[in-house]
Amino acid sequence: MMTRPAINETTTASPNDADERARAVEAQLTDDERFSLVLSILGHTPGSATGGRDPRIPEDLTNMSAGYTPGIPRLGIPAIQSSDASMGITNPGYRPDDEGATAFPALIAMGSSFDPQLVRQVGEAIGREARMRGFNVQLAGGCNLARDPRNGRNFEYFSEDPLLSAVLAAAQVNGIQSQGVVSTLKHYTLNCNETNRHWLDAVIDPDAHRESDLLTFQIAIERSQPGSIMSGYNKINGEYAGGNDHLLNEVLKGAWGYKGYVMSDWGATPEWDFALKGLDQESGAQADTLLWGKEPFTDELRTAYAKGDLPKERLADMVRRILRALFAVGADRWGPAPEVDMAEHNRLALECARRGIVLLENDDVLPLPTERPLKIAVIGGYAQQGIISGTGSGAVAPVGGFAGVIKIGGAGVMGKHRNLFLFPPSPLDELKKAFPKAQFDFDPGYTPAEAALTAKRCDVVIAFAIRVEGEGFDSADLSLPWGQDSVIDAVADANPNTIVVLETGNPVSMPWRNKVKAILQAWYPGQAGAQAIAEVLSGKVNPSGRLPVTFPESLAQHPRPDLPGLGTPWGTPVTIEYNEGAEIGYRWYAKTGAEPMYPFGHGLSYTAFDYRDLHVDGGDTITATFTVTNVGDRAGADVPQLYLTDVAGEARRRLLGFERVELQPGESRELSLTADPRLLARFDGGTGRWHIVAGSSKVAVGTSADELVLEAAVPLSGRHFGP
Ligand code: GLC
Repeated sequence: MMTRPAINETTTASPNDADERARAVEAQLTDDERFSLVLSILGHTPGSATGGRDPRIPEDLTNMSAGYTPGIPRLGIPAIQSSDASMGITNPGYRPDDEGATAFPALIAMGSSFDPQLVRQVGEAIGREARMRGFNVQLAGGCNLARDPRNGRNFEYFSEDPLLSAVLAAAQVNGIQSQGVVSTLKHYTLNCNETNRHWLDAVIDPDAHRESDLLTFQIAIERSQPGSIMSGYNKINGEYAGGNDHLLNEVLKGAWGYKGYVMSDWGATPEWDFALKGLDQESGAQADTLLWGKEPFTDELRTAYAKGDLPKERLADMVRRILRALFAVGADRWGPAPEVDMAEHNRLALECARRGIVLLENDDVLPLPTERPLKIAVIGGYAQQGIISGTGSGAVAPVGGFAGVIKIGGAGVMGKHRNLFLFPPSPLDELKKAFPKAQFDFDPGYTPAEAALTAKRCDVVIAFAIRVEGEGFDSADLSLPWGQDSVIDAVADANPNTIVVLETGNPVSMPWRNKVKAILQAWYPGQAGAQAIAEVLSGKVNPSGRLPVTFPESLAQHPRPDLPGLGTPWGTPVTIEYNEGAEIGYRWYAKTGAEPMYPFGHGLSYTAFDYRDLHVDGGDTITATFTVTNVGDRAGADVPQLYLTDVAGEARRRLLGFERVELQPGESRELSLTADPRLLARFDGGTGRWHIVAGSSKVAVGTSADELVLEAAVPLSGRHFGP
């Protein structure tokens, strides 16, 4: 019998120990106890008559949130309490006493940082803030690929690229799990649109799926061993994600040997036999009652077990997977909660916002001088009140609470969560600190004519443009809402020194683009975002963000200019055929030859960088070595990117590697990037293995997917490998 560390030690068990302990503990459980573990209860019953807590939740349980599963104290199994999400600890109203959690920037802003070390630190902070509240499962690790710029949840995902998404998602999971908290990766898979997601069938070529969304999960799982994988709401090739035998049993648990547990999304378990198809835990059971009229993993699952339709071994396996996830991170052996320095977390949120801001255009107007008594017009975007965020289950109430909440609403279960959330402090207040000698004139951007009058009487204009995006909604197009395009157009006509700051969760159309002098993409930059924006505009911070998604010139360039199902009533079944396959984003533009508005990887700096001395080795994979130099007159960070451009004569664009480097003026750094061989290969579903074609291939080092600076040919030896 293994000696167990004292209960107050937080030691993470080795995988084998966790598996051994899970097997030993599971064998001691009663069947009732086993059934209690394969279900989680939502903290607040959505839409119920009482609207109160579910009777299965103990009255004295104060820190309730997304999910509760009772513990089994006699065997040292803690209650399993889960909270959302990837940008901080959410509080959807269950805990009025909570003074707020650190609201980190949106994942798409973290994606723009191209900085795994930073994202891991954010994960550690989220893990600490989860643990201090007693949450031992964090529903984080959003890593769906941004296939469609209309997808309302892209702010909760890192990028359009499998490698960038996987590396950053793994970093976040490792950060969270290092604090003794289980993390998810989600939503497995192809949950890339929100329109009628519960009735959406995502259709894709299976091999292309392995080369894109599945490869993202595969690499992220290898790098982080997440305790749990959350399956998505949608179907994939006709089978619901939560009951997709091929994706769960054959690929995830079979080919990849995943040992953790699969939890459903909330309200994504319509049938008990999902347990036979790979689902290990029904999440937020009341949401299933709301959507499907039942909680399959309660009575129906027990009946199936009694009849022998659910084998004892399968029930044991479901439980062992849940237990091993807890044991592997030490969630069953917490000592005292770690000290949480919220000031430090705010500094981390600030650094994250700084590195996530992407300077898209700069016609020699930024940074603005801080020593001159400029007359600055600040226009629109509620810039006098705060910074906006995305909406839905991932929305975090920042420390100290919101500066304002304005209801927007909409169809379906997420309509009531669709609000304009404003985080203090306001951009206007932060700009006044950054430009102490300037005179400020604020205009709400309420009408173009009024805004133009303000713009006309100032030296420079900073126009804020916002678009609230969130869970449950796809945008109908890429335009800014509330007539903001007309305001920016009028302002730019009135004053050519106009700078636009975007707070959006996706690319947007910019009809005024050629009339303005600079464009900053700030995304949803979190609770310290206003300061970060002011620091970039004043030059205190040299922007280093790079686009993690392509900005299309228009949706005509997209594989699906018209989004199937958009605007259909809630509950309408919809099929989306992802015919672009693995050629997502920049890969699609390389294939079609279309010119995007801004390419993946694009981002300007206040200094300049030079790349030289590319040397490439081939064979089983590709290793590229080159030197990057800061040739400007101020310190800055760059993100050189290594791309595959051609495989044995076939054009194919793949990001093979990247590294964020900070350099002083004149400083050089030699970088060496080695490709994951799967990025050089095609997946062959017939053999279940990857195949690299022998021959001469080509790579390039670039400042974006379109701006390739150094190129080289490299021989690749053909081979099959897998899975
Ligand atoms: C939501 C989301 C999921 C979240 C869960 C719990 O609907 O799809 O990301 O973790 O429910 O709130």
